[in-house]
Amino acid sequence: MDNLGHIDVENLPKHIAIIMDGNGRWAKQRGKMRVFGHENGVDAVRRTVENCAKHKISYLTLYAFSTENWKRPKIEVQTLMRLLVASLRKELKTLNENNIRLNAIGNLDFLPGKVAKELNEVIAKTANNTGLTLTLALSYGSREELKQAIKAISSKVKNNIISEHDIDETVINTHLYTHDLPDVDLLIRTSGEHRISNFLLWQIAYAELYFIDVFWPDFNEQHLVDAIINYQNRERRFGKTSEQLG
Ligand code: FPP
Repeated sequence: MDNLGHIDVENLPKHIAIIMDGNGRWAKQRGKMRVFGHENGVDAVRRTVENCAKHKISYLTLYAFSTENWKRPKIEVQTLMRLLVASLRKELKTLNENNIRLNAIGNLDFLPGKVAKELNEVIAKTANNTGLTLTLALSYGSREELKQAIKAISSKVKNNIISEHDIDETVINTHLYTHDLPDVDLLIRTSGEHRISNFLLWQIAYAELYFIDVFWPDFNEQHLVDAIINYQNRERRFGKTSEQLG
């Protein structure tokens, strides 16, 4: 048995979301271009997906590209898209071998045709897998997600498809990109920054937040296990008192 610490399998976070931050700084520390950081970030993605599957996590959501990231230099955006296409192509077989289902959230219409095609292909070819659901947030912004949900619900009210009295949390949930995912239990951000950066604002309402001072390319199995054990040592009260939880 590996000596990483004891995870209580009865109390696993069902849904882990990660803000993968620090690729650029990791590269800079080594006197390299930012692209080098992203390339090594891909290795950390592969490692983390594998480790989440190994530790029986049901849902992993990765913030791979935000709506704001489109404002980065063109060459960096192109590199990220190229890495994405290459990874999708390369990892399809491994995803299937490990029973992992790929999913994507975000404004996917903004993705270059090549990326969208590859993404849809891998999503379709892994659709029947029943193990870990790996969701990539691409061209994702939480405010944009909420805005489109509000527009869709308003239009249904206007057209008498639903009444305004019917609008509850379930109705809102069903209009989000994440409609088929459970709420986030554990949100991890690497790189030492303590921000949410427009990621899953609705879905993290009761998530435990875990910030770690390690750049994304260095994030490894021990860091993941530490985060899970830290989560398991917290008391999640969902607004109730400790006594009520019994
Ligand atoms: C943050 O580091 C990272 C990103 C904006 C992108 C994450 C992308 C990858 C790990 C590679 C491709 C993804 C997949 C799913 C194959 P940063 O550039 O913001 O770093 P900095 O804050 O140090 O500048």
